[in-house]
Amino acid sequence: MYKLIAFDAYGTLFDVYSMGELAEEIFPSHGHALALMWRDRQIEYTRLVTMSDPSPGGSKYYLPFWDLTIRSLRYVCKRMGLELSSENEKRLMDQYAKLTSFQDSLEVLKQIQSQGIATAILSNGSREMLSTVVESNGLKSYLDQVVTIEDVRLFKTAPQAYELLLKAFPVKKTEVLFVSSNAWDALAARWYGFDVFWVNRLGHPYEEIGELPTYEGDSLSKVLQVI
Ligand code: LAC
Repeated sequence: MYKLIAFDAYGTLFDVYSMGELAEEIFPSHGHALALMWRDRQIEYTRLVTMSDPSPGGSKYYLPFWDLTIRSLRYVCKRMGLELSSENEKRLMDQYAKLTSFQDSLEVLKQIQSQGIATAILSNGSREMLSTVVESNGLKSYLDQVVTIEDVRLFKTAPQAYELLLKAFPVKKTEVLFVSSNAWDALAARWYGFDVFWVNRLGHPYEEIGELPTYEGDSLSKVLQVI
């Protein structure tokens, strides 16, 4: 059985698409599109940085996820012809720093720990932003470790990023269940060799390449049924 359940952070434990509401308030009728494009560009930047220099010592193009998040916001606003004042940039980034967790995140972590199974986050996020969002949602005591790719300066989906979990915990690959709502992340973790739970809240199709996830469910709570 599993000895470690590791969660992706943004989109999985924390609701990134809630950014759309604030963006909509700032840029009426463009906010939801902006939030989607922002997320895509942010992930695109992580891939550019990683693929352009996948050196064992980390990418020389590495910038913390926080910086990539600001820069992707700026890009998308320019691309959409929306003027981003420094005040509104700050409002959006302040909200990003304190994203709310999904309503079942805390209870799921608590239940897993009560069964004697370790819990962790494995995220592209920088240490500081992860620690802020974990603490502002009261999740700290229910996570054994918050693992960030900052240590390898290569973003997921580099295998070195997933490998960090095996360095942080005394577990074998087969004893890890990785949970992500991002299909690309679930797919890459499966390729790496973890069992994977894909949280598909919106009923999206899975990727058309790679193996299917080990499990799929429409909420985080469903993870409790497979451990
Ligand atoms: C993370 C992003 C990719 O937390 O969701 O790693």
